[in-house]
Amino acid sequence: MEFVNPLQFLKDKTILVTGATGFLGKVFVEKILRIQPNVKKLYLLVRAADAKSAMKRILDEVEKDLFNVLRDKLGANFKSFVLEKVVAVVGDVSEVNLGVKDSKLMEEMYKEIDLVVNSAATTDFDERYDFAFNINTMGALNIMSFAKNCIKINMVLHVSTAYVCGEGSGLIPEKPFYNGETLKCTCRLEITEEKKLIEEKLNQLPAQGAAKNELTSTMKELGIQRARFYGWPNTYVFTKAMGEMILGKYSDNLPLVIIRPSMITSTFAEPFPGWIEGLRTIDGPIAGYGKGTLKFLLANPKVICDMMPVDMVVNSMITAMTANTRQSSQMIYQVGSSMRNPIKFTNVHKFARQYFVENPLIDKAGKPIRVSKCTFFKTSASFYTYMRIRYVMPLKVLKLISVFDKKYKDVCIGHGKKIKFAMRLVDLYKPYMFFKGIFDDTNSQKLRMEVGKSGLVDAFNFDPKSIDWEDYIINTHIVGLVKYVLKG
Ligand SMILES: NC(=O)c1ccc[n+]([C@@H]2O[C@H](COP(=O)([O-])OP(=O)(O)OC[C@H]3O[C@@H](n4cnc5c(N)ncnc54)[C@H](OP(=O)(O)O)[C@@H]3O)[C@@H](O)[C@H]2O)c1
Repeated sequence: MEFVNPLQFLKDKTILVTGATGFLGKVFVEKILRIQPNVKKLYLLVRAADAKSAMKRILDEVEKDLFNVLRDKLGANFKSFVLEKVVAVVGDVSEVNLGVKDSKLMEEMYKEIDLVVNSAATTDFDERYDFAFNINTMGALNIMSFAKNCIKINMVLHVSTAYVCGEGSGLIPEKPFYNGETLKCTCRLEITEEKKLIEEKLNQLPAQGAAKNELTSTMKELGIQRARFYGWPNTYVFTKAMGEMILGKYSDNLPLVIIRPSMITSTFAEPFPGWIEGLRTIDGPIAGYGKGTLKFLLANPKVICDMMPVDMVVNSMITAMTANTRQSSQMIYQVGSSMRNPIKFTNVHKFARQYFVENPLIDKAGKPIRVSKCTFFKTSASFYTYMRIRYVMPLKVLKLISVFDKKYKDVCIGHGKKIKFAMRLVDLYKPYMFFKGIFDDTNSQKLRMEVGKSGLVDAFNFDPKSIDWEDYIINTHIVGLVKYVLKG
C-alpha cells in the first residue's frame, strides 16, 4: 500500500461522482471541495430532464446547511467556485453509458476523468426487483464499462454495504464475492438468468392486464422472493451483493475499491457535528420513539447496532482511494464500529430515552411528548402474541361492529392497513434486530495506521474508537436528527 497525502493526491484530479444528491455522496462532494479547492473538476451524474435542471438540482443541494462552512470560507465567491469546479451531467446509472446522451460531453469525460466514485443506489429494502436490479446491479456494470472508456482512469471506488453478508454471524471477513456465489450452498446464482426473469415478468404482467399498482407489488414481491431464495434477507442487499460480483468479474486490471459501510449516521465532526438528511436505518425507530408512536420493538437489546458517522465513511473513501490508486486488484474495506467500539441496541435506546426525557418533542397541541421505556420483544412468538391481543383482535371486533354500523368501515380499513404496514416493516427489519455478525475491519485498520503514520489522523479520522457513543448519540446525532430531519 502506497500512501500519499490525500490533498496532494486530489490536486488536479477529475472525479466522476454518482449519488451526489444523496446523503453520503453530498458529504463526499462537500469534503473534496472544502479540503482541496485545487481539485480539477467534479462531474456529478444526476437524474434530470436536461442539463439546466441537473445543474439546478446541484445548486439546490449546495444551498443546504451542510455547505455552510465552505460558503462562509469562500464568501461571495462560493457560487462561482461551485460553478467552476462542478459539472452536472444528466444521466442514469441504470442505462448503458450511464445514460449520458451529450456525445461531446461524454468524449470530454472519457478524456479527463481520473477517478470514478459510485455512490448511487436505491436503498429501499423492498424496492421493485427490476428497479433495484437495474440500479444496484446493472448500474455497477455500467459504471465499470464507462470507467474503462476513460483513458487515464486510476480506479473505481464503489460504495456497497456491509450487509451484503446477509444474516451472517460471527466475524464477517472483508472478502470479495466470487461470481455466482450465494448464501445458501445448495445453489448457484446466474445474474443473467435473473435479468431474463425480470424481463419475462415485465412482458407477462401487462399482457395479463395487470394494473400499475399490481405490477409494483408483484415486482416488489419478486425481489424479496429471489433474495430469500438465495439466502439474502431483502432485495436491497441482494442486488448490492450482485453489484459487487459484477464489478469483481469485469474490473480486469482496473483498481477497484469497494467500501462496505454499516449503518451510516450523522456527521461526527466535519464540516460540523450532527448534520444528517432523511430518516434512515436506526433513525426511523429513534424518531418514532421520540414522537411517542414507537413503544415496543421486536429486537434483541443485546445485539450490537453497528453505526458509522457519515464523515468518517467519507474519510475512509478518500484515504482508500489515495492508498489504492496503483493497485491492480480488488480491495474491500468494511467500515463499521462493531469490531472496535461496539454499542448495543439497549444502550442506543438508553441514550435516546435520556435525550427525549430531557428534550421532549412537542405535539400538535404544543404539549411535550412524554416517553417511557420501550419494550423489547426478544422472540417473534411473544411479539406476534402481543400484536394479536393489542391490535388484531380489536380490529376483528371493529370489523364486526362495522357490519352493523357503516360509519366504522373507514376506521376499520385504516387500522387494517396500518397493521399490515407495521408487520411488513417488522418483517424487513427483523434480520437486523437480531444480527449476530461483527464486521472484520482489518483492511480498514491497516489503512487507518497508514493515515496515522502520515500524521493526518485529524483530517481523515474514521476510527470508531474515537466515538464516545453516549456523547455522540445524545449531544450530536439526535440533536441533528431533530434539527435537520424532524425540523425542530
Ligand atoms: N445510508 C446508509 O446507512 C448506508 C449504509 C451502507 C451503505 N450505504 C450505501 O451508500 C450509498 C449512498 O447511500 P445514501 O444513504 O447516500 O443513499 P441516498 O441518500 O438514498 O442517495 C442515493 C443517491 O443515488 C442516486 N440514484 C439512485 N438511482 C440512480 C440512478 N438510476 N442513476 C443515478 N443516480 C441514482 C440518487 O439520486 P436521486 O436524487 O435522483 O434519487 C441519490 O443521489 C449507497 O450505495 C448505499 O447502498 C448506505
